[in-house]
Amino acid sequence: MPAIVRSNADSTPQKRRLRSDAAAAQDSQPSIPVKWKSPRRCTSASPNCPSNRAAIDSSENPGKSPLKKSTDRFIPNSKWSPVDTEQMRAVKEALHVSTAPSTIVCREDEQRRVLEFCKACVEQEKAGSLYICGCPGTGKSLSMEKVKQLLVDWAKEVGHQQPDVLSINCTSLANTSDIFSKILGDAQPRKKVNGSTTSALQQLQNLYSQNPRSSVMKMMLIIADELDYLITKNRAVLHDLFLLTTLPFSRCILIGIANAMDLADRFLPRLQSLNCKPMAVTFRAYDKDQILTILQERLLALPYLVFQPQALELCARKVAAASGDMRNALCVCRSAIEVLEAELRKSSSNFNLSTVEKALFEQQTTAADILRKQEIDVVRLDHMVVALSKTYRTPIVDTIQSLPQHQQIVLCSAVKLFHGGKKDTTVGELHKSYMDFCKTTLIPPVGSMELSTICRVLNDQGLLKVGQSRDDKSKRVTLRVDEADITFALQGIRFFRNCFQQFCSKHID
Ligand SMILES: Nc1ncnc2c1ncn2[C@@H]1O[C@H](COP(=O)(O)OP(=O)(O)OP(=O)(O)O)[C@@H](O)[C@H]1O
Ligand SMILES: [Mg+2]
Repeated sequence: MPAIVRSNADSTPQKRRLRSDAAAAQDSQPSIPVKWKSPRRCTSASPNCPSNRAAIDSSENPGKSPLKKSTDRFIPNSKWSPVDTEQMRAVKEALHVSTAPSTIVCREDEQRRVLEFCKACVEQEKAGSLYICGCPGTGKSLSMEKVKQLLVDWAKEVGHQQPDVLSINCTSLANTSDIFSKILGDAQPRKKVNGSTTSALQQLQNLYSQNPRSSVMKMMLIIADELDYLITKNRAVLHDLFLLTTLPFSRCILIGIANAMDLADRFLPRLQSLNCKPMAVTFRAYDKDQILTILQERLLALPYLVFQPQALELCARKVAAASGDMRNALCVCRSAIEVLEAELRKSSSNFNLSTVEKALFEQQTTAADILRKQEIDVVRLDHMVVALSKTYRTPIVDTIQSLPQHQQIVLCSAVKLFHGGKKDTTVGELHKSYMDFCKTTLIPPVGSMELSTICRVLNDQGLLKVGQSRDDKSKRVTLRVDEADITFALQGIRFFRNCFQQFCSKHID
C-alpha cells in the first residue's frame, strides 16, 4: 500500500457532544485488522487514569443488574454520622467523579468486546482499528483504562509479547497533527523525531510500509480519547491516523473514543471505500437500573447507609431520563449531601438560640419536622429533590407544579399506575387509582364527569395522552411526559412527598 503524506491543514478542532438520550446507533461489523511492525515504551496520559484499580473479571455477568437484586446487595452494617468530618470526607470521595471505582459494573460486555478485539490483534500480530462511541459520562474513558490493564496482564499471563500502550487525550494536543509525533516517538523511542509534523506522519507511513529488517517490532495499543477533537476542515488527520493501521507492516491497534455515533460514516468515508471501516462499540446511555447499580456499587465501599433507597432511586430515574450521564448522577448525589450538611448546620445553629428564640422556634416546628430530624443521619428524598432541582428544573416541572391540586392528584395516580412498568391504562382505571389516592389522603374526590374534564385538560397541556372511545371509561391513557419529571415536580410539594415515599418503597421492597 502506498505511503500517504498529508500537509497539516488542520485548523479548528471541534469538540462534538451529543445528548445522552440520543438513540444509540447499531454497532457496525468489525473490519479485519491488517499487517504488522515496531518497538517502543509505555506512556499513559489519560485524564481519568486510575492508579490503583482492582482487576475486573471480564467474564462477570454482562449487562445491567436488575434493581431488585442490587437493592438486596446494599446492606450497610453501621450508622453514618454526617457530623463526623472524616466520614463525610469518605462519602464525598466515594462519589467523586475522579475517584476510580474499585469495580466497573454495567460495562462488562463493552469491555469484553474491546478486549477480545485487542487480544485478536496481539495474537495474530495484526494492526487494526476500533471506534468507541457514546454519550458523555457513559464510562468510555473509564472502561478503556481497565481494558488497557487487562490486555497487558493477559499478554503477560499467556506469554505473548506485551504491547506498548500509548494513551492520548486529543484535547491535550497543541496541534492536531502532533498525534503523529507522539506515535512516532513511541514507535521509535531511540530515534530523534524530526521537528516537522508532516514528516512525523511520513516517517510513520514509511515505517509501516516497509518490511522491517529488525525482526521483532512490538505491537502498540494507541488509545486516542476525545477523538472528535481531531475533526478538522479537511479531516486529514483523522483519516491519516486510521490509515496507519491499514499499512502492510503496521503494528498499531488504534482505539478512537468520541461521542458521535456516526463519526466513522461522516468523517472516514475513504476508509469505508477501502473496506477498512473501524469496528464500532457503542456505549449506550445508562438507564435507571444501571445508574442505581453503579451508585450502590460505589457506595459499597462505605460501611454505612448514606442514602435513603428512595432518594437514590429518584436520582437514578431522573438522570436516566435526562441524560444517562454518570457524572450528573454523581454530582447530584454529592449536591444532595451538601443539602443535608446545610440542614445540619441550620439545626445546630438553632441549638445556640436564646431561650425566647428557642421557644419561638419550637412553636414553629411541626411534628413532621421533628420526625424528619430523627432521620437526619441519611440523605433523604427531600434532600435529593432539592439537589435535583438545582440541576434539572425545566418548564415541564414548573407546569406540573403550578397545576390545580386535583390535576396533580390525577398525574400522581397515573404515575402510581405506571410505576411497575405498565405503559398505558384506561380512564376507568385511572379514576379508581385517583379515588384510592383521595381516600388515603382524606381529600374529597371530584365526580367522574369532572375527572374526564381533568383528563382532557391534561391531554391539552401535553401531559397525558387520552385516546378516543365512545365510552369515557374505556379511553386509553398514557403519559406524555417522563414519569421522573412528574415524581420530581410533585416531590417538591410536601403533600405529595409522603404518597410517593409510600409507593416508591413498596416498589423497592
Ligand atoms: N460503570 C461505572 N462504574 C462506576 N463509575 C462510573 C461508571 N461509568 C462512569 N462512571 C463515573 O463517571 C465518570 C465519567 O465516566 P467516563 O469518563 O468514562 O465517561 P466518558 O464516557 O468517557 O464521557 P465523555 O464522553 O464525556 O468523555 C467516571 O470518571 C466515573 O467516575
Ligand atoms: Mg471520556
